[in-house]
Amino acid sequence: MQTFINIALPKGRLGEKVYDMFERAGYECPSIKEPGRRLVFENAEVGVRYFWVKPSDVAIYVERGAADIGVCGKDILLEYAPDVYELLDLDIGKCHMAVAAKSDFVDNREKTLRVATKFDHIASRYYQAQGRDIDIIHLNGSIELAPLLGLSDVIVDIVETGATLRENNLCVVEKFQPISARLIANKASFKFTSDRIDKIKEALSALK
Ligand code: PRP
Repeated sequence: MQTFINIALPKGRLGEKVYDMFERAGYECPSIKEPGRRLVFENAEVGVRYFWVKPSDVAIYVERGAADIGVCGKDILLEYAPDVYELLDLDIGKCHMAVAAKSDFVDNREKTLRVATKFDHIASRYYQAQGRDIDIIHLNGSIELAPLLGLSDVIVDIVETGATLRENNLCVVEKFQPISARLIANKASFKFTSDRIDKIKEALSALK
């Protein structure tokens, strides 16, 4: 009997699109669509076991081998640089990493810029490349609030439709990094089950 390929899916909006791709690629697991709060689903017939994890945790599961493969945003790979293989750009979950601020924001380069973000490393690298002094204010969500309340001058965050910025009277200062969902693999799993992982990768690639 073949062993399962363990697949970490990002819970939420992106995860449903990702699972649909796996399903169309021939790796269906109907129980995943049943309502409820279960996190693990398997289909022995096709040899896959899926589990829902927080999007920012997918790379941790894959890096440590709790999952053989997974799907996460390029933002997570850039921010945490996990020791995994990046196998495929799935061309979904497309968005940008951007700097945004209130519409009346004027950058005073004499002063340290206060930057609110979930992505400390991405933001630091971006401003370091410009030789700009910044003070990172790490937040875990609702980043758009920071400039509105005077907590920061700008934010570095993901912009997809731009609706969150618009509805909070913020504007894009610069989009600097395109982001999309990537198929990643644990290095040891890829070595020992490369035939099966490659097959999954090829089947997903054919859907693009
Ligand atoms: C992300 C991001 C923005 C929003 C952008 O937040 O941090 O807030 O999506 O999308 P839009 O341009 O389509 O409006 P997410 O929904 O992941 O929630 P979070 O703020 O809790 O991280």
